[in-house]
Parts: sequence; structure tokens; C-alpha cells
Amino acid sequence: KMLLLFLLGAATGRCLHDETQKSVSLLRPPFSQMAPDFRSSYLTLPNSLDPQPLRIQTYYIGEPISDGAWDPEGDVMRGRPRALTAVREATQQIQGVLAVPPVQGPLLLSRDPTQYCHAVWGDPDTPNYHRCSLLNPEYKGETCLGAKIPDAHLYGYTLWPEQGPPQLVQPDGPGVQNTDFLLYVRIVHTSRCHQEPSIIAYSACCQLDSEDRPLAGTIVYCAQHLVSPSLSHGDIVMATLHELFHILGFSGQLFKKWRDCPSGLNIRENCSTRQQVTRRDKWGQLLLTTPTVSHSLAKHLGVVGVSLGVPLEEEQGPSSSHWEARLLQGSIMAATFNGAQRTQLDSVTLAAFQDSGWYQVNHSAAEELLWGKGSGLEFGLVTTCGTSSSDFFCTGSGMGCHYLHLDKGSCSSDPTLEGCRMYKPLANRSECWKKENGLPAGTENPHGEIYHSQSRCFLANLTLQRLPGDKTNHPSQIPNLKEAKLTGRCYLHQCTQRGAYEVQVEGSPWVSCRPGKAIQIPGYHGLLYCPQGRLCQANEGNNSVTSLPVNLSTQDVLFKLSLGLAGPPGHTLQEEQKEELAEAVLQALVNRGGTGRCYFHSPSITTSLVFTVHMWKSPGCQGPSVAMLYKALTLTLQEKALEVYHGEASFTTEYIKLLVTWDHNPSTTQITLSVGLCLLLLILVGAIGIVAYQKQATRQVGPSAP
Ligand SMILES: *[C@@H]1O[C@H](CO)[C@@H](O)[C@H](O)[C@H]1NC(C)=O
Ligand SMILES: *[C@@H]1O[C@H](CO)[C@@H](O)[C@H](O)[C@H]1NC(C)=O
Ligand SMILES: *[C@@H]1O[C@H](CO)[C@@H](O)[C@H](O)[C@H]1NC(C)=O
Ligand SMILES: *[C@@H]1O[C@H](CO)[C@@H](O)[C@H](O)[C@H]1NC(C)=O
Ligand SMILES: *[C@@H]1O[C@H](CO)[C@@H](O)[C@H](O)[C@H]1NC(C)=O
Ligand SMILES: *[C@@H]1O[C@H](CO)[C@@H](O)[C@H](O)[C@H]1NC(C)=O
Repeated sequence: KMLLLFLLGAATGRCLHDETQKSVSLLRPPFSQMAPDFRSSYLTLPNSLDPQPLRIQTYYIGEPISDGAWDPEGDVMRGRPRALTAVREATQQIQGVLAVPPVQGPLLLSRDPTQYCHAVWGDPDTPNYHRCSLLNPEYKGETCLGAKIPDAHLYGYTLWPEQGPPQLVQPDGPGVQNTDFLLYVRIVHTSRCHQEPSIIAYSACCQLDSEDRPLAGTIVYCAQHLVSPSLSHGDIVMATLHELFHILGFSGQLFKKWRDCPSGLNIRENCSTRQQVTRRDKWGQLLLTTPTVSHSLAKHLGVVGVSLGVPLEEEQGPSSSHWEARLLQGSIMAATFNGAQRTQLDSVTLAAFQDSGWYQVNHSAAEELLWGKGSGLEFGLVTTCGTSSSDFFCTGSGMGCHYLHLDKGSCSSDPTLEGCRMYKPLANRSECWKKENGLPAGTENPHGEIYHSQSRCFLANLTLQRLPGDKTNHPSQIPNLKEAKLTGRCYLHQCTQRGAYEVQVEGSPWVSCRPGKAIQIPGYHGLLYCPQGRLCQANEGNNSVTSLPVNLSTQDVLFKLSLGLAGPPGHTLQEEQKEELAEAVLQALVNRGGTGRCYFHSPSITTSLVFTVHMWKSPGCQGPSVAMLYKALTLTLQEKALEVYHGEASFTTEYIKLLVTWDHNPSTTQITLSVGLCLLLLILVGAIGIVAYQKQATRQVGPSAP
């Protein structure tokens, strides 16, 4: 019911949950049947339990050649350094936040017996009961979300005859030293990336340790985003951090495995599985109810002492892996991503890792979340957000300021807000901190706006008292002046002390802005409203900026080109033909345009034969501007339809079905992060206790009949 994904511009989308879930099985170590006392005595070895910064070891897994067809521009090659740098920065950041009792000795991952083994001995009276009696000849090794796990990282496996010594098929690998978590990285052009062009990356956790702490996972980057100018390096790092948090435990599939541990140095001692992690409140809202997150949210809302659950965004299916956007907008674990500078590593998210019982958390790494701060119990409810009682939500569709005051915004909604509205950054030129958004020198500036790295958005209706070339008019004679409506405007600000600041309007002196009050500016009619609790919140010295935004790379215009195709009568497009046909149409389009492939990204085709491709100029792309190419293409398509032969059929474009949309500036577009998901698999060892089997027979465990 909840659409989680936002395509660039087009609001259609779908959650990755089901697909990712299907493709991943979650394994636990083969010795999970070990006696509990053996385990705890192992874990209480002297000095072995002091938590140390989480050591994440990264492995880049190259793609097989056959996928090369989808990398015509070498995006994978070019994107690789960017992805690996982002992973390195994100894992370093996590080291400062999460600590675990270090894994002793090399880290080895488990093999899935249901994969390598076809049958086990089923007679409890025989010595090799439960052991593998027949190998699966199709076994190709272990994978994690498409990443092939090297044998060196895996335990070996053995075939057990009815009598006689076991036959070692593959010995244990050497494992990976000094590692608490193995992260596999893939960079791809998968169909998933093509179908959902807004997905930067997706991830899944694949293995757990005996205490259910995630041990290994994979992050998959969609290659086209790594080379796109629309995402800054900071955005990629933030997206990586988001995915890593999913696979380290912040996932709907893992919440129920969280441990309740008595506090103390030895964090894993005497832990029990949590009885209840989520519940629904009386309005049906899903809540995460563990104590530290509840306390952290209550503290954030300024209602300490109340035990709240933290609302989760409802996604498709029974699990939910993100905070509710109405309450925790801007959190790194909210479902929508609005760019790195509008995203915080908030204390509620860190509290979740504390509640997992697997980690010791450095809470001083938390960044302040401005959204909803001190707003009380009623904040963020669907029933209250429309009553204009909150500074964070708005009503109607007017113009104002995004709550961080870096951008102007228009009052609007999206599916994660469930009808609530907030000022969202505009499609273009909404950043007050970008000098280039300002008026060209010499133009009239009746509202005295200043665009500058230290400018912020203020609600105001200032108008110059004496307009240039207008020496006689008294203000009352100027039409419309009286009705000047409040709107978002960009003015310079400087912090004087914590929570206090001054503003400057073009040509005016610095004027002290008292938070929560409206002030007048010499030389201007109208008022300027000074936001409360938003600017100069960090303990900064004089003249420092509130938060220095990172430069986004220069933004090329984005087009989305959709072409309706006519196929042979009665022709139905098979699912597996889609990619090929999309590729064929794209090739024809490239030939027609007479340009490189580098303008075209994420081609896709629907079963109803609508071909869609995104157009922007990737760096290093030689040729005309996107706008010119688009113009030329639409003209030639009007003159002569595109004809594509595929299989035995011929397809023709229908000009009337040509659709071009301008996409938003991606820096202000919500870009969705996929859900990092882990699926519980009943592995053989777990299943055997509840499954009846025949004595004296071998039990089939593989997918196909012997
Ligand atoms: C905890 O976080 C703070 C702030 O990020 C950092 O300065 C500090 O080094 C971290 N502590 C540890 C033990 O990593
Ligand atoms: C763990 O439980 C054992 C037995 O119940 C108890 O003796 C020990 O003190 C507990 N340890 C901690 C850290 O609570
Ligand atoms: C900004 O967007 C508006 C529509 O939202 C459009 O009319 C205008 O031309 C755009 N300006 C630039 C510079 O892209
Ligand atoms: C500016 O807005 C305020 C509040 O809406 C209003 O009272 C005032 O008359 C406006 N001033 C001008 C000059 O439009
Ligand atoms: C900022 O400057 C003012 C006067 O210019 C001074 O009184 C105040 O102490 C300064 N604050 C800080 C944090 O340096
Ligand atoms: C941002 O861009 C401006 C102008 O392009 C440049 O002068 C400035 O150094 C850049 N800042 C950063 C942090 O890259």
C-alpha cells in the first residue's frame, strides 16, 4: 500500500522488498546446535569480550563477462573507484560508532546444506545420522545477493558414506583475519537498476553468527548513479551508510532477532532474545518499541518520561525497515533520501543499534535532528499535521522555507507523508547557499535577496521602500505593496552565539534576528521572520556557518523520453525479452541521434510496449547539449518513425505516444534507498527437528528429485 520509491520526477515505484527477500537466504554457523554452556564458556574467555570498533572487510566482486552487454559506456569501470572510496569512508565512520567483541581467529562463513547436499542419512541409529549422504551435482558454491563468495571465506564440506571414513569434498578456507563483518560489493547494470532508475544501491545480509549478529552481506550499486553528475560524493557515502546500517541490523527481518542484554562491559553476556520488538498502536501504526529507541524519541520530542514506540514506515509486506518519514524526516534511516546535506545520523537510529544487543554504540557520534525537535507527543500524527499547529508542517500549496532553511520550498506532500505537507525544496534554484542562483548583477532586486554560502531561507515579505528609478511614489501609491505575501527569501546570516544570529538584506546593515520574532529591516517595507531552534544550533564561534553545504556538481538538465511502440498484432512481450528489446530500441535511437550512448541512461520497456529512457550528459560525453539532442530527436521521430526488428517481429514508434518530461533537479529529488533485507531461512539443521522423516531412508533436501 505504501509506495516507497520515487523515480526521478515520476512518482511511480515499487519496493524492492519481495525480490531481495526471495534471492537471499540467511545462514547461521553450522555449530549452532552446540550446547549453550559450551558457547558461553567460549565467549567468556578472559579479555576476549571487550568491545572493539567493528572491523568491516570489503571485497569487490567483479561481474561475469555476460553482464558486459549492459556496460556499454564502461560505467562499472568508471564508477568503481567512487564506490570503493564511498565504502571505505562509510566503514570508517561506522568504526567510530559501533563496537563488538572482536571475532576470535579468522572469520569463516557457512555453506548452505540445502544447496550442496542432496540428501542426508535419515536413520538416527546410524553414526552418520543427519550427515550429507548425497551431494548436489549442480552446486556452484555460495552467493550473497548475486556476489559469489570465495571458497577461501567459507567452511568446507564433507560427504559421509553409510560406513567408513568421511570423504572431504572441500576443506575449510583460511578465512579472513581481523574481521567482524565481511562486506561484498558489486557494481552492476541489473534489470532492477533499469526498472527503478532512482535506486542508487540495494543490499542484503546473508549470514549471522551464533548470537544472530550479522556477519556478512552484500551491497549492490547501480552503476549509472556512480557516474552521474547528479549525485555528489557525499550523497554516495550517505547512501552507502544507509545500506550498511540495514545489513548490520536495521532491517524488518532482523528486528525480531535483537537481543536483550543486561548492560555492562561484556555486552553479550546473559542476553536473551527480545520478547517484543514491534507492536501496532490504536491507530494501526507500526511501532518499534524497544527501550532505548523509545527513550531517545521521547527525549527528541521533549517529553521525557513517556514510553513511546518509534513509528516505522509501512512498506509492502509484513516488515518495515525505515523510520516513519512524518516523525523522523532527515534521519539516515528514513525511507526517503533528500541528499547528504539534508540527512543526519540521528540519535534514534543509534539507539536502535544499542537495542539490537549486538553492538556497543558511541552515542556521541549522533548528529542533531532538527525535524520535530521538542515538538511534543502530538508531533507528526496524520491527525495533527494539517492543523498548522506545527512549525514543521504546512497547509495549502504556498511558498516558504524547507525546515533546514538552506532551501526555499513549496508546500507539498509525498506518499511517505500520508497527506501531511511540508516545504520541499523546489525543482531548481531553491538553494540559498548557491551564489549562482542569485540574480545577475545589475538586475532589480526589489526584495533585497542575497545568495551566498552563508545565506539561509527566511519567511519574509520585504520590499524596497524606494524602488530604483521610482523617486516620487509614496509606498501607499505602489499597487500590491500592502498585499505582499509572506514567502521564502534568501538572506545572509551569521551566528552570534548558540541559537542567536543576525541577518543582512541587500544594502542593509546587519540586524539582530530574535528567534521566533518578526523584525523590520531599514530601507524595506514588510517583515522578516526569524526561525526558532533551526539556525546556529551547534555551539559555534562567531561568524561561523550553521552547516556548510557541500558543493553539488553542476547540474545538467534531465529528460525522460518515453516512446510508445506498435508491435505486430497480437504480439505479447515476454518478461525475458524486455531487456533485449529495450536495448535494441536504444541502439536505434542512438543511431538516429548520431551521438554517443553517453546521453542515455536506464532504458526500460513495459509489456504494453512503452519504452522509456533517461537523458543526461555523463561526464566526458562529447557532443551537443541534452536539450539540443532532445530537440533533434523529437523532430526526426516526427518525420520518420523508428523501426526496430527484434526476434521475428518489427516494432515502430508512434509519434503521438512520444512523451517527454523534465525531471527535477536530482539534488532536491527524493532518491530512494532500497531496503536491506535479510530473510530467515530454515536451514537443514533447524528444520530437521520439526520435519518427519523416514527411518532407513535418505531424506531429500535439495530442490530437485534424486
Ligand atoms: C565517538 O564519536 C565521536 C564523535 O564522532 C568521536 O570523536 C570519537 O572518536 C568516537 N569514539 C570512539 C571510541 O570511536
Ligand atoms: C549472568 O548470569 C549468571 C548466572 O545467572 C550470573 O552469575 C552472572 O552474574 C550474570 N552476569 C551478568 C553480567 O549479569
Ligand atoms: C525552473 O523550473 C521552472 C518550473 O518549475 C521552469 O519554468 C524554469 O524554466 C526553470 N528554470 C531553470 C533555470 O531551469
Ligand atoms: C507583511 O506580512 C505581514 C504578516 O502577514 C503583514 O502584517 C504585513 O502587512 C505585510 N507587509 C507588507 C508591506 O506587505
Ligand atoms: C561573539 O562576539 C560577541 C561580540 O562581538 C562577543 O560578545 C561574544 O562573546 C562572541 N561569542 C563567541 C562564542 O565567541
Ligand atoms: C564550491 O564552488 C565554488 C565555486 O564553484 C568554489 O569557489 C568553492 O571552493 C567550492 N567549495 C567547495 C567546498 O568545494
